[in-house]
Amino acid sequence: MNSLKRRAALEALNWIEDGMTVGLGSGSTAEIFLHGLRHKNIQGVASSKKTEVLARSLGIPLVETNDIDVAVDGTDAVDDSLTLIKGGGGSLVREKLVAYHADVYIVIGTKEKWKKTLHDETVPVEVLPFLHEGTEELLLSAGGHCTLRLDTKKNPFVSDNGNFIYDCTDIGEVIDFHEKVVRLPGVVNTGVFLNLADIVLIGEDTGVRTER
Ligand code: 5RP
Repeated sequence: MNSLKRRAALEALNWIEDGMTVGLGSGSTAEIFLHGLRHKNIQGVASSKKTEVLARSLGIPLVETNDIDVAVDGTDAVDDSLTLIKGGGGSLVREKLVAYHADVYIVIGTKEKWKKTLHDETVPVEVLPFLHEGTEELLLSAGGHCTLRLDTKKNPFVSDNGNFIYDCTDIGEVIDFHEKVVRLPGVVNTGVFLNLADIVLIGEDTGVRTER
């Protein structure tokens, strides 16, 4: 599995040129990509605190700007319309911002991430802690079966933005669900990334498949 992640991550490095501002994704696949950036003369925009720590340890200079040339990130699921579901690591809101502001958004993953349909996938939703149980009721009435994400100590998982995450299943059509819930009071955003991915690089046994 790691070798397939590595294949996709190394392929993404071909898009990176010296002097670029690069959006740095989060998660294990994005971390492999980050290691490859050590040899490039670029500056990065980190999509999570964990990525920020890794980038600093690798000597990658960091900036906070929305002027991003290329962003590279992993995904939890992707279909043939290049809709993504992200947020397994809890960094969905910053990841979406970085993706939105990148001139080119490249997604890297392994063949397991490629889905015929996103229908049965779990969609993370980041919500404000304030009155979050009320927000949970609203999510339920939007058709989701949503569970508060817990950390290893069984406390609510807290995102880099100080928010909670609900993982929603049985939601049917993910885009409809996203559109219904994204405007609910208390909801910050969802892990559905619509019309954002420009290029998807899938690590397979025989090489890297490119979808665009
Ligand atoms: C974090 C994410 C990650 O990109 C996603 O979970 C994929 O992670 P991995 O590369 O470890 O499978 O969205 O919020």
